[in-house]
Amino acid sequence: MALVAASILSCDFGRMKEEIEFLDEQKVDYIHVDVMDGHYVPNLTFGPPIIKAIRPYTEIPFDVHLMIENPENSIDQYIDAGSDRITIHNDATIHLHRLIHKIKEAGVKAGVSLNPHQSPKEIEYVLKDLDLVLLMSVNPGFGGQSFIPSTLDKVKELKELLQKHNSSAEIIVDGGVNQNTGKELVEAGADALVAGSYIFNAENRSEAIESLRNL
Ligand code: DX5
Ligand code: ZN
Repeated sequence: MALVAASILSCDFGRMKEEIEFLDEQKVDYIHVDVMDGHYVPNLTFGPPIIKAIRPYTEIPFDVHLMIENPENSIDQYIDAGSDRITIHNDATIHLHRLIHKIKEAGVKAGVSLNPHQSPKEIEYVLKDLDLVLLMSVNPGFGGQSFIPSTLDKVKELKELLQKHNSSAEIIVDGGVNQNTGKELVEAGADALVAGSYIFNAENRSEAIESLRNL
């Protein structure tokens, strides 16, 4: 069993309401919202006004993934827009510990994301504070990229570190997830899987969601 976070990066932006209503019917565990600023990653998506506009279409938790520089400057807007979980990248802000606690004090779950070259050891001393750790299994910025296999060892390493620090943070993996890579990830110890193109480009989207859920 895996928790499924459907990434709306690959949905039809012109039909955002219908796409979210579909995910609502499918009862996915999270709606994964990829915020990109064109600086931290070479792509630009959407920000707080869009998140606020789509928030009423479902009660499924919004898992907001901030791929933005200096998220401390705009974090209040993402909190106010109705994010249930906010994940920041560990190298996007100087005072990571401070920002994690600011998010949590606002009653929002806090996550930190690591890029493919980054070790879980970099965030060892905040693991106890986190609700989730999001491992990027592609370089962030675009949907539809191929899964980077070294993520599997990283999931195992992170799991051990979480146990060492008695942290109950969820391990969620993002990028290139499909039924095959998803199976390997769950076997390695992942709790949740983000999937964009695998769901939205599928001939049968419901089956694609189900195939991840049943891993
Ligand atoms: C990539 C994003 C992912 C993206 C995944 O930077 O963080 O959430 O939507 O897309 P797929 O599942 O197509 O790899
Ligand atoms: Zn993402």
